[in-house]
Amino acid sequence: MTETSNTYIAPFFAVIFGGDGDLSKRKILPAFYNRWDDGQLDMPFQILCISRSQENATQFKKELRPFIESSIPEGGEDRIDSFFERIELVHIPEISEKNVASLSKKIKAEPDWQRTFYLSVPSAAFNEICTVLKSSGLVNENSKVVLEKPLGHNLASSNEINTSILKAFGERQIFRIDHYLGKETVQNLMVLRFANHLFERSWNAENIDNVQITVAESLGVEKRADYYDKTGALLDMVQNHLLQLLCLVAMEPPSTLTADSVRNEKLKVLESLRVFNKSELKNNVIRGQYSRGTVGEEKVKSYLEDIRQFESETETFVALRVFIDNWRWKDVPFYLRTGKRMKRRYSDIVINFKPVRHNIFSDVEKIPANRLIIRLQPDERIELVQLSKIPGPGGYRFKPISLKLDFVDSFKQRMPEAYERLIIDILRGNQTLFMRYDELESAWKWIESISRYWHDETRLVLYDSGSWGPGYEIMDESTKWQAK
Ligand code: BG6
Repeated sequence: MTETSNTYIAPFFAVIFGGDGDLSKRKILPAFYNRWDDGQLDMPFQILCISRSQENATQFKKELRPFIESSIPEGGEDRIDSFFERIELVHIPEISEKNVASLSKKIKAEPDWQRTFYLSVPSAAFNEICTVLKSSGLVNENSKVVLEKPLGHNLASSNEINTSILKAFGERQIFRIDHYLGKETVQNLMVLRFANHLFERSWNAENIDNVQITVAESLGVEKRADYYDKTGALLDMVQNHLLQLLCLVAMEPPSTLTADSVRNEKLKVLESLRVFNKSELKNNVIRGQYSRGTVGEEKVKSYLEDIRQFESETETFVALRVFIDNWRWKDVPFYLRTGKRMKRRYSDIVINFKPVRHNIFSDVEKIPANRLIIRLQPDERIELVQLSKIPGPGGYRFKPISLKLDFVDSFKQRMPEAYERLIIDILRGNQTLFMRYDELESAWKWIESISRYWHDETRLVLYDSGSWGPGYEIMDESTKWQAK
């Protein structure tokens, strides 16, 4: 299968396994709706939502409607019914060739349509689904498979999943989703770095003191206690989202924007991550778990109360100091941190530049360094913090002033959800924003250098819900998290 052109999308079937699940209702189907409503899906298509338990299509659409409504501006609701005509609920209690026979017949009736199989189910089910799709003759050169994380729980299980999927689909047909790569500001990072002479020239160890990547969430584990307690923040967030952000910040300029050029460069970053040995771990990694506290105005329970257990060592917060052992980033610390139940929801990437080499201003003891802040959420913007003179006679007094580029204000348009961009890329066959097998493998190898000694070498620190969590011990005095 070759990458299709930027504009053309062939008619398609989107078959969503777990079609009545939370992710499908919250993100995937609203994303299809919005792309369709914007006129980008003007070709024939049908979305087949596979459910193990739900049989009642009217009830399913009733449950889905509020999710779509909340994703669109007020007043656009009257088009939802015509979108619903494109959605069919298909009840398949157990996957088998026999049970997919009528689905198969429907799909084969349109031999020229592309077939996108979206697996929004636990990865334990991937093998069985792919095997049945293949034996039912549903996998042809126009087929694709989309995989939602987590892809396994360690390197071995991830390899096992990949091997089984590769029996049915070629690597060119596999789209491993990391929804962070679909976020507008994350893509804008590519433009910021590679379309602006200004930044790329100073994007290296000579000019940058440290990089901080934060994904702070105010929510707790919500209804996912079972999944989360087996996973924890390291695997839920760092192994995928934070490492992908790190790759985009640190990679060399790819020679083109094709999927393999970009992914080759990301892979080199992952392969250059300094592997932790046992004794280094406790000086570079902190893991925490939220206890009771107040987030905003709300009093919230501890993690253990949320998951209804008396004990659990699962971390809901992790902070790491990471090094990339290559020419560009020699000895520049990258601080990664993520946590649940933190003071506020925000994600950003802060590039802390080095201070000026020599201070000519004798009135000022220390000149603060420049900072570039790339804010991913909730408000998407880029901020360059630079020093300015405070107006007035007599001497120099400085103040850091931000040059701000606020996307919403600057472009006056709705910012599409990450899934909207990703879905269009899948339909076009563009894999640039999806993880390749070797990237995933490399990320797992590095994560295992941490998880291997996790429980023996690091202590679980409790932090109050509504705080910024622990994590200061691994940082130099001068580079404390710039918590907002
Ligand atoms: C998911 C994690 O991948 O990302 C969740 O499983 C997390 O635990 C979510 O809450 C965060 O995504 P976003 O887009 O809300 O920052």
